[in-house]
Amino acid sequence: MSLSLLLLPLLLAIPPPPSALAQAANISSFSSSDPPWLPGQGQILLSPNATFAAGFQPLHPNASSAQYTFSVWYYGISPVTVVWSANPNSTVDASASLVVTPGGQLFLNSSGAVRWARNATAAAALSLGDNGNLMFGAWESFSSPGISPGDTFLPSQNMNETTLVSKNGRFSFDSENLTFNGTEIYWTSPGKNKFLNMDDSGKISQENGQSILSADFGDKSVLRRLTLADDGNLRLFSYSQGEWTMVWQAMPELCQIHGLCGRNSICMGDGANGTYCVCPPGFRSSVDGNYECERKVPVASRQKAKFLRLDFVNFTGGLNQTNLQVANFSDCRAKCLADQTCEGFMFNYDGTGFCVLQLERLLYGYWSPGATANAMFLMVDQSETDTTNFTGLTSVLETTCPVNVTLPFPPDESSTTTRNIAIICTLFAAELISGMAFFWAFLKKYIKYRNMAQTLGLELLPAGGPKRFTLAEIKAATKGFLDPIGRGGFGDVYKGELSDKRVVAVKCLKNVAGGDAEFWAEVTIIARMHHLNLVRLWGFCAEKGQRILVYEYVPNGSLDKFLFRSSRATDQSETGEAAAATDQKPMLDWGVRYRIALGVARAIAYLHEECLEWVLHCDIKPENILLGDDFCPKISDFGLAKLRKKEDMVSMSRIRGTRGYMAPEWVKTDQITPKADVYSFGMVLLEIVSGVRNFEMQGSRIESEDWYFPGWAFDKAFKEMKVEDILDRQIKHAYDDKIHFKLVDRMVKTAMWCLQDRPELRPSMGKVAKMLEGTVEIMEPRKPTIFYLGDE
Ligand SMILES: *[C@@H]1O[C@H](CO)[C@@H](O)[C@H](O)[C@H]1NC(C)=O
Ligand SMILES: *[C@@H]1O[C@H](CO)[C@@H](O)[C@H](O)[C@H]1NC(C)=O
Ligand SMILES: *[C@@H]1O[C@H](CO)[C@@H](O)[C@H](O)[C@H]1NC(C)=O
Ligand SMILES: *[C@@H]1O[C@H](CO)[C@@H](O)[C@H](O)[C@H]1NC(C)=O
Ligand SMILES: *[C@@H]1O[C@H](CO)[C@@H](O)[C@H](O)[C@H]1NC(C)=O
Ligand SMILES: *[C@@H]1O[C@H](CO)[C@@H](O)[C@H](O)[C@H]1NC(C)=O
Ligand SMILES: *[C@@H]1O[C@H](CO)[C@@H](O)[C@H](O)[C@H]1NC(C)=O
Ligand SMILES: *[C@@H]1O[C@H](CO)[C@@H](O)[C@H](O)[C@H]1NC(C)=O
Ligand SMILES: *[C@@H]1O[C@H](CO)[C@@H](O)[C@H](O)[C@H]1NC(C)=O
Ligand SMILES: *[C@@H]1O[C@H](CO)[C@@H](O)[C@H](O)[C@H]1NC(C)=O
Ligand SMILES: *[C@@H]1O[C@H](CO)[C@@H](O)[C@H](O)[C@H]1NC(C)=O
Ligand SMILES: *[C@@H]1O[C@H](CO)[C@@H](O)[C@H](O)[C@H]1NC(C)=O
Repeated sequence: MSLSLLLLPLLLAIPPPPSALAQAANISSFSSSDPPWLPGQGQILLSPNATFAAGFQPLHPNASSAQYTFSVWYYGISPVTVVWSANPNSTVDASASLVVTPGGQLFLNSSGAVRWARNATAAAALSLGDNGNLMFGAWESFSSPGISPGDTFLPSQNMNETTLVSKNGRFSFDSENLTFNGTEIYWTSPGKNKFLNMDDSGKISQENGQSILSADFGDKSVLRRLTLADDGNLRLFSYSQGEWTMVWQAMPELCQIHGLCGRNSICMGDGANGTYCVCPPGFRSSVDGNYECERKVPVASRQKAKFLRLDFVNFTGGLNQTNLQVANFSDCRAKCLADQTCEGFMFNYDGTGFCVLQLERLLYGYWSPGATANAMFLMVDQSETDTTNFTGLTSVLETTCPVNVTLPFPPDESSTTTRNIAIICTLFAAELISGMAFFWAFLKKYIKYRNMAQTLGLELLPAGGPKRFTLAEIKAATKGFLDPIGRGGFGDVYKGELSDKRVVAVKCLKNVAGGDAEFWAEVTIIARMHHLNLVRLWGFCAEKGQRILVYEYVPNGSLDKFLFRSSRATDQSETGEAAAATDQKPMLDWGVRYRIALGVARAIAYLHEECLEWVLHCDIKPENILLGDDFCPKISDFGLAKLRKKEDMVSMSRIRGTRGYMAPEWVKTDQITPKADVYSFGMVLLEIVSGVRNFEMQGSRIESEDWYFPGWAFDKAFKEMKVEDILDRQIKHAYDDKIHFKLVDRMVKTAMWCLQDRPELRPSMGKVAKMLEGTVEIMEPRKPTIFYLGDE
C-alpha cells in the first residue's frame, strides 16, 4: 500500500511513449506560446470544421529519410491531396522546425538555414480557415505564394492577378492564359477574359461578368478545386462518392497543349489514357530523350526531296505560320522548296488555297483525326524509305460521308421489283482499292465536296467560338420566323439565311432553365464539339428571355423520313424539311444505311469519349439524325439535354411518343450514364435495318404490353435464323447474302448488344463503332429483355 503510493509519482514522471507523441494533437492555431513544431510529431493544424489540415506532409513516407513540405491538404481524404505548400521545391528533413517568435515572425528552419519566413505583428498566430486559407497576421496563402506559386485554386480564392504553376514548373496559368515555357500561350480563357473566382456551386466568374460552369453546377455540398496539372491542362475537380471527378477542363484535346512533346515529335492521344509522343516517318528519337526526334537522313538535295503526307497532323509552333493562299498544291510545294528553311508544309484540299509553310522548325505537332481534314507534307530525303502511317483522311470521309451518292426512288406501292442497288456499293469498293489513282480521284471529289460545304458557309466560321446574334439579326435572317421546318420537344425550328448568305436552321428553345451566363457557357461547350457527323452550331441568341440556337442547315432532312414510309406523319421532324406529303424520298441502300449507322456511332463516341464523359445526348432517335449532302449523317440536338432536368426529359419524351428510344434506366431513378445513349442508338440501328418503328409493326401500332421489338428481332435472327424477316421490306430484294450478310449481321448483332437491359452489359460507344467497323470481334449477343424494369 505505502509502496504503491511511493511509486505513483515515479510513474507519472515517466515520459509518454513515442507512439503517443506521434499522435500528438490537433491544434486550431499555432503561436509563439507553442513549442517548436517538428515534422515527426504528427501534429496538424485543423480548420474549424476539419475540412482542411496543415502541417508537415511527408513526400515519400516510406523512404528511409523522409522529406517534408509544410502544406495544406484536405483532412480525411485519401490519397492526400495537397492544395498549397510553403516549400514545394525545397523540402526539409526531420530536423526541421516551424516556430513563431514572440515578435511575430514565422520561420521554417532546416539544417540551420531559414527555408521560409513570414513577418507579422506581435502575438500573431498561424491559423487555417474552412476554405483552406492558411493565415498568419495579414499574410494568407490564398493571396501570396510560398517559395514558388502553387498549382491549385480553391473556391472563394481570388484568382485575379495570381499565377498557378504546375508542379514540374513547365506550365503556368495567369488567370487568363495557359502558357508553356513562359512565352508559348496555348489556351486563352473564353472571351479572353480573366478568371476572378470560383464559388461552391461550381461557377467560375470572369471579369466581364461571363462565367464558366462545371458539369455538376449547382451542387454546393461538394469540395472543389481548380488544378493545373503536370500535363499542362487546367481542370476543375469535384469530390464526391469518395473520389475526385473532373467536371470541367480547359483543353479537351491534350495534344494541343504546347510542349508535351519536343522538337519534330508528334503528340498522339486517346482521350482517357493521356498522350504519347511519336516520331514522324523519316525521323528517330534523338539520343538526349526529351521526346525529341531527329532526321535519320539529312535532306541532301532540296530539289530532289520527297514529301510524305501525314493525315490529320498539324505543327503549330513554326515560325511565321501565315496562310499563303496559293492556287494549288504544286504552288504550295514549290514555295516550300524555294525556302531554304522549309521543313514541310500544310495544305488543305478545300479549294481555299490554304498553305502554311513550316519554317526552321517542326514544333508542337499533334495528330487529331477528330474533325479537321488537313494534312501535313513533310520533306524527307529522296533516299528515305520510311512510308507514312498517318493515314485515314480518305477512309474517314469515304466511310461515312461519301461524295455523290445516287439512290433510286422507290417503285410504286404495288410493284415488288427493285433495282439491285448493290452496284453502287461495288463501285465504291472498286474505287477504294484502285491504288494510286484513287488519291487524286479522291482529291477531286473532296474539293467538290468541300466546295459544296463552302457554299453552305463552312469557311466563314468564326474561329473563336459561337457568334452571339441579336434578336434583330435572327428576325432578319428568318424573315420574322416565316419558314418553319420542324417542331420538336426542344422547340420550333425555322429556316433562315444570314447576311453572309449562309443558310441556317434556327431553333427557338422552350423552357430553358438558367440565366444568360449559364446558357452562354453551355453553348460554348456545345459549339466546341467538332465532328464531321455532328451538326455545327454557328451561334446563338439570348435576349429578352429568348433562347435561340443557330445551326448549319442540313438539306436532306431527318432519317425518319427516309426510313419509315408507311408512317404518315407520326412525328414531325426537328430541323428537316417541311413534311410535304408528296415529297418522295429515295431509298437508302444497305451501303448507305451502314455508313449512316457508322457515322452516327462515331459521333456519339466522340461526344462520350473525346469530349467529356458527361456530354450525353439523351435523345438519340431518327428525327435527330439529319442527312446532309450524299447522306452524310449529322446528329442534331446534342448537348441540349444538359439544359433540361431529368424529369423534363422523361415526360417530354412521353409526350412526343418517343418512349421507344429511352433506355430502361430512365424509368427508374438510376443515374443516367452514357450507356443510355447506347441503348437509344441500338434501337435506331435496328430500325435502320428493319425500316419500321420499334413500336409499330408493318404500319400498325403495336398495343400489346408484351411485345418487345428487340426481343422479337433477336428470335428471328438468332433462334429461327431468318434474318431476312427483320429486313426492310422495301429493299429486301436488294439484299444479297454474299455481299451484305456480313454488313447486316454486324449491324444486327451490334444492335442486340446495345439493347441489353442492364447498362453495364452494353458496350461503350467507342466499342460500338469498332463493332460496326468490323475491327473487333462481336460475340454472340444475349436476348434483350425488359425484365430489368420489373426488378424492384
Ligand atoms: C483530430 O480531429 C479529428 C476531427 O475532429 C478527430 O477525428 C481526431 O480524433 C482528432 N485527433 C486527435 C489526436 O485528437
Ligand atoms: C521580416 O522583417 C525583417 C526585419 O524586420 C526583415 O529583415 C525580413 O526580410 C522580413 N522578412 C520577410 C519575409 O518579409
Ligand atoms: C466547412 O466549412 C466550409 C466553408 O464554410 C464549408 O464549405 C464546408 O461544407 C464545411 N464542411 C463541413 C464538413 O462542415
Ligand atoms: C484585378 O486586378 C487588377 C490589377 O490589380 C485590377 O486593376 C482589377 O480591378 C482587378 N479586377 C477585379 C475585378 O478585382
Ligand atoms: C521544382 O523542381 C523540379 C525538379 O527539380 C523542377 O523541374 C521544377 O522546375 C521546379 N519547379 C519550380 C516551380 O521551380
Ligand atoms: C494573356 O495573353 C494576352 C495575349 O498575349 C495578353 O494580352 C494578356 O495580358 C494575357 N493575360 C494576362 C492575365 O497576363
Ligand atoms: C524555352 O524557351 C527558351 C527561350 O525562351 C528556349 O531556349 C528553350 O529551348 C525553350 N524550351 C523548350 C522546351 O521549348
Ligand atoms: C486505356 O488503356 C487501357 C489499358 O491499356 C485500355 O484497356 C483502354 O481501352 C484504354 N482506353 C482508351 C480510351 O483507349
Ligand atoms: C493548326 O493548328 C492551329 C492551332 O491550333 C490552328 O490555328 C490551325 O488552323 C491548324 N491548321 C490546320 C490546317 O488545321
Ligand atoms: C511572314 O511571311 C509572309 C509571307 O512569306 C511575309 O510577307 C511576312 O513578312 C512574314 N512575317 C514575318 C514577321 O516574318
Ligand atoms: C506510326 O508508327 C509509329 C511507330 O511505329 C507509331 O508509334 C505510331 O502510333 C504510328 N502512327 C499511327 C497514326 O498509327
Ligand atoms: C454526281 O454524279 C453524276 C453522275 O456521275 C453527275 O451527273 C452529277 O453531276 C454528280 N453530282 C454532283 C453534285 O457532283
